[in-house]
Amino acid sequence: MNDTINPLIQNKEHDETRQGEAVSLKGKVEKKAKNCYVESYGCALNFNDSEIVATLLNQEGYGITTDFKEADLILINTCSIREHAEQKVRERLRIFTSVKKNKPSALIGVLGCMAERLKEDLLEQEKMVDLIVGPDGYRSLPELLKEAEAGHKAVNVLLSREETYADISPTRLATNGVNGFVTIMRGCNNMCSFCVVPFTRGRERSRDAFSIVAECKQLFDEGFRDITLLGQNVDSYHWKNETENSEVNFAQLLEMVALIHPDLRVRFSSSHPKDITDDVLFTMLKYENICKQIHLPLQSGNSRILEKMNRTYDREWYMAKYDRIMELIPECAVTTDIIIGFCSETEEEHQDSLSMIDYCRFEFGYYFKYSERGGTPAQKKFDDDVPEEVKQRRLDEIIAKARHYSLIRNKEAIGKIYKVLVEGPSHRKPETEWNGRNTQNQMVIFPKKNVQKGQYINVLINDASAGTLFGEIVD
Ligand code: 5AD
Ligand code: SF4
Repeated sequence: MNDTINPLIQNKEHDETRQGEAVSLKGKVEKKAKNCYVESYGCALNFNDSEIVATLLNQEGYGITTDFKEADLILINTCSIREHAEQKVRERLRIFTSVKKNKPSALIGVLGCMAERLKEDLLEQEKMVDLIVGPDGYRSLPELLKEAEAGHKAVNVLLSREETYADISPTRLATNGVNGFVTIMRGCNNMCSFCVVPFTRGRERSRDAFSIVAECKQLFDEGFRDITLLGQNVDSYHWKNETENSEVNFAQLLEMVALIHPDLRVRFSSSHPKDITDDVLFTMLKYENICKQIHLPLQSGNSRILEKMNRTYDREWYMAKYDRIMELIPECAVTTDIIIGFCSETEEEHQDSLSMIDYCRFEFGYYFKYSERGGTPAQKKFDDDVPEEVKQRRLDEIIAKARHYSLIRNKEAIGKIYKVLVEGPSHRKPETEWNGRNTQNQMVIFPKKNVQKGQYINVLINDASAGTLFGEIVD
């Protein structure tokens, strides 16, 4: 994949660089007599799901191991969003299944979006797999495990209209102890024509607002200082409180979380341009601790393509939305996703995506070549007719332009002082340099001095690259 880092949620969300690396869960859950190995691909929602799974398995007596060779249960939480993600999972499955030669009792399970998309076919194709569990089936893992232990193939790919796992506070496993992720809703009702998510994660449902606030508060008490509220389309969050006959929308939820403590930074991802409201923008303005950053996927800068994508907005609408954000919150960072080479995209239409980058000067973006997914409206209705080499060339052009603006924007930060939340030692020089983020989610690197993880400091920026700001701590 060609995009690089994700400032939004630590390389987690739908970043195939991260997918390539795969993150195996390790952390607070210790090893026990029986141990499980969990590897996750895809978006931050999926990583959060893996933590829910680890919590459920812990209740069943499983510990966590980071070495799949010694695991009694190997789980791979999968992503279907692009072909590449699925290929990677199949490669990993080949490696995992070889473990069974030495340890025939080990069980292998496929979780998540690929389990949902391919269902029983996956058992046909990958004969060594014992369990197939879709995103709404994790509560049934104890029964499924019993079936699998008895030598039967165990499958639960039922999608639910209600399941939000609201009562499960996931054990944070792959974490730095500062940045936390909280799922506020599941599924998606949008039906963008290219997207497999409505089929793999089902209908949209919002989680109990009080359970979200309680989980965020617990994270704050444990030392977390930067929480990202996660959903496919957070602006359509809408929870009905049946007991009090009241309702909570996303702006209200944001406020509830922001009020937990002024030292708790709140972020959210992702927003749909059709749904983000002025109410949300005013709430962001009202609270200093709601971060000034919006991930607003564009997908295409051309109105005909947007219509084919069923995005329900056009180029002008997106521009107006962007203008409104800038008018109300001029310091806000806007980041985006763009799909390149969608069905029948012409050279001129591609130019429209490029010119939108000129217009919005996105702080950061994820840029993807279109990958046809079986069963989606686009696969049924349109030809995936942009040749691979054309997609690649257009992607390179988009990335070059986006990098150009990332560098310009970061250079504009030189001379400014930012409030930075310290996250820990930098990757390159962990002894002497530390890193953190500002409200816009730009990565800032500075000489260590006397600071601690989770502390807020002021940093004067004195240099910048396209991906990082460099500075010094000031009082
Ligand atoms: N091909 C390429 N990119 C896709 N995305 C979603 N579906 C596809 C697809 N079929 C991208 C969109 C979305 C992000 C999560 O992944 O840009 O916003
Ligand atoms: Fe996440 Fe979508 Fe991938 Fe599922 S298909 S893991 S929802 S990015």
